[in-house]
Amino acid sequence: MKQIISEKDIEKKVREIAEQITKDYADKTPIFVGILNGSFIFLADLVRELGIDLEVDFMKVQSYDGHKSTGTVHLAKDISTEITGRDVVIVEDIIDSGLTINFLVHRINESAPSSVAVATLLFKKEVAQLNFELDYVGFEIPPDYVVGYGLDHNQKMRNLKAIHVLDHQDDLA
Ligand code: IMP
Repeated sequence: MKQIISEKDIEKKVREIAEQITKDYADKTPIFVGILNGSFIFLADLVRELGIDLEVDFMKVQSYDGHKSTGTVHLAKDISTEITGRDVVIVEDIIDSGLTINFLVHRINESAPSSVAVATLLFKKEVAQLNFELDYVGFEIPPDYVVGYGLDHNQKMRNLKAIHVLDHQDDLA
């Protein structure tokens, strides 16, 4: 495994994003929707740096089988909160092809929220195909498979404190 983003750099970036969100939502009470499972660490760190009132909810989608995208998104857990007329911030660990986030934004917009923003820690800009602009991006990374800080390989390695690329891409087959 090769470390590409250190624990310190993640901490610094999370604080920067939180500062910006705190400014942007100064007089609002947004709902942060964490996308399970990968975003749980980013979400937990992010909300604790925010200086505003907020709510937290979760959605779970499945598009990956092991390390490969299946090409279709399946909603495994919907949001529980009424979001009509509310400000929603979707919190993702990573945007790869963009399939998942396009699906989620479309799905959330169906409930007529007042606003929808997307915060992602990692963004594989070279390969992502998005129908909209991202609001908060931590790091743009190359399209390698990464693990740590919530991101898994076959459900393991989420607890690593830094972000790593797996060395032998063949191991992922
Ligand atoms: P997308 O739909 O291709 O954008 O993929 C989004 C989801 O796939 C993320 O929320 C992750 O769960 C998973 N994913 C994509 N790339 C990686 C990676 O490099 N490591 C771990 N999970 C990933």
